[in-house]
Amino acid sequence: MARRHKTPVFVLDHEKIRQNYKEFKESLPRIQAYYAVKANSNPEIVKTLYKMGASFDVASFPEFMTAYQNIKRLGKKRRQDFIWDKIIYANTIKCIETLRKLDQYKPFVTYDNIYELKKIKRYCPHAGLVLRIKVPNTGSMVELSSKFGVDPGEAVDLILESFKAGLVVEGISFHVGSQCNNFENYMQALQLSASILKEAESRGHKINILDIGGGFPVRYNSKAKSFKVLAKKLNAEIDRLFPKTIEILAEPGRFMVANAATLVTRIIGKAIRDSKICYYLDDGVYHTFSGIVFDHCQYPLKAFKDGEKKVCAVFGPTCDAFDTISVAEALPELEIGDYLYAENIGAYSIASSTYFNGFPPAKIVHINK
Ligand SMILES: Cc1ncc(COP(=O)(O)O)c(C=O)c1O
Repeated sequence: MARRHKTPVFVLDHEKIRQNYKEFKESLPRIQAYYAVKANSNPEIVKTLYKMGASFDVASFPEFMTAYQNIKRLGKKRRQDFIWDKIIYANTIKCIETLRKLDQYKPFVTYDNIYELKKIKRYCPHAGLVLRIKVPNTGSMVELSSKFGVDPGEAVDLILESFKAGLVVEGISFHVGSQCNNFENYMQALQLSASILKEAESRGHKINILDIGGGFPVRYNSKAKSFKVLAKKLNAEIDRLFPKTIEILAEPGRFMVANAATLVTRIIGKAIRDSKICYYLDDGVYHTFSGIVFDHCQYPLKAFKDGEKKVCAVFGPTCDAFDTISVAEALPELEIGDYLYAENIGAYSIASSTYFNGFPPAKIVHINK
C-alpha cells in the first residue's frame, strides 16, 4: 500500500470504526454516542458512523457542516427537528458569526457562562441549551477543566438565569478529560450532575438530558484502564442516580477512531550524532505525529525488518529541532528508503496536521469501507 500510494500514508480501517461503535453501544446501551468529530473530521468517518446509528458532536461551524452535509438519511424523529438528535455543538464559546449561522438549524449548543448566554439569546435564540459543568479531570491524559465548565455551585443560578432569559436548558454536560484513566472523575461528575438536576427540578425546571462527554480510554498500552470496567461502573451509577426517563448521550472521540488508523512513513535521511543513530522520516510532529504535542500521546514506531534493536532518535522532515518524534526509540538498524509504521494513530493526529515547511498532510487511504 505504501509503495502504491507513496508515504506518508494514513490507513484508516472502517471495520475497526464499526467495531468500536458496536462495542460502545453494547457496553453502554442507554447512551447515544455523539462522535466528537474533532478527533478526526474525515467525512468518510462521519458517513460510516452515521450508518451505524451515531450522532455527532462538533466544535466549529465547518465541523457542523461536515456532519450536516454527510447525514444523508433522516434519523428517527424524537423532537421537532431531526438535527436535535444528530448534532450537538459542544464548544462552549462560539463567535457571533457562528451563532448567527447556526440559528436556522435550531441547534443544540453547550455554554458555561453568562456572557455566552447573552450572546446566544441575541444571535441564536432558537438554540436549545446544554449547560457544561466543571468536573474533576485528575489523571486524564488531556486536561480540559481549566478552560471549560461552570462551577457546580453556580450551575443552578445560571440555569435559572437562562430560563428567565426565555431560553430552554435541555440538558447538562461535563467532560472528565480525554483518555481518562481515573474512573473516579466520572463517578464524581455523575454525582454532581444528579444533585444539580435535583435542585433545578426543585426550583421548577425539569431537565431531561445528561451529556457525559468523552474521555473513554483507548488501549494504547498495557497501562490503559479497561473501557469495559468503566462501562459497568457507569451503567450502575447512572441507574442508581438518574430516573429511567432521562436521555443520556456521550461524546466519544478518541474511542471511535484511535485504533482504526496506522501510519506508514519512510526513512528519508540517516545520521550519527553523539554516537546515536538518527533517522529522519517523511512525517513528523508538524504533521501526523502532532498528537505527541497536542494530545500528549506517544506512538511507538515499528519496522518491517527484524534485527537487534538499538536505541535511536527519530525526527520529522522539517527544519525545526522541535520536530522530534522520539529521542529513545528502539529499532533494528535501518536504511534510507526503509518503511516504518505507527499503530493507534487515528485520533488527534492528522486532525492537527499542518503544512509547515510546505509538507502536506499524509495521504488518507480508506480500507473496509
Ligand atoms: C467537548 C468535548 N467533547 C468530546 C471530546 C472528545 O473527547 P474524547 O476524545 O476523549 O472522547 C472532547 C475532546 O477534547 C471535547 O472537548
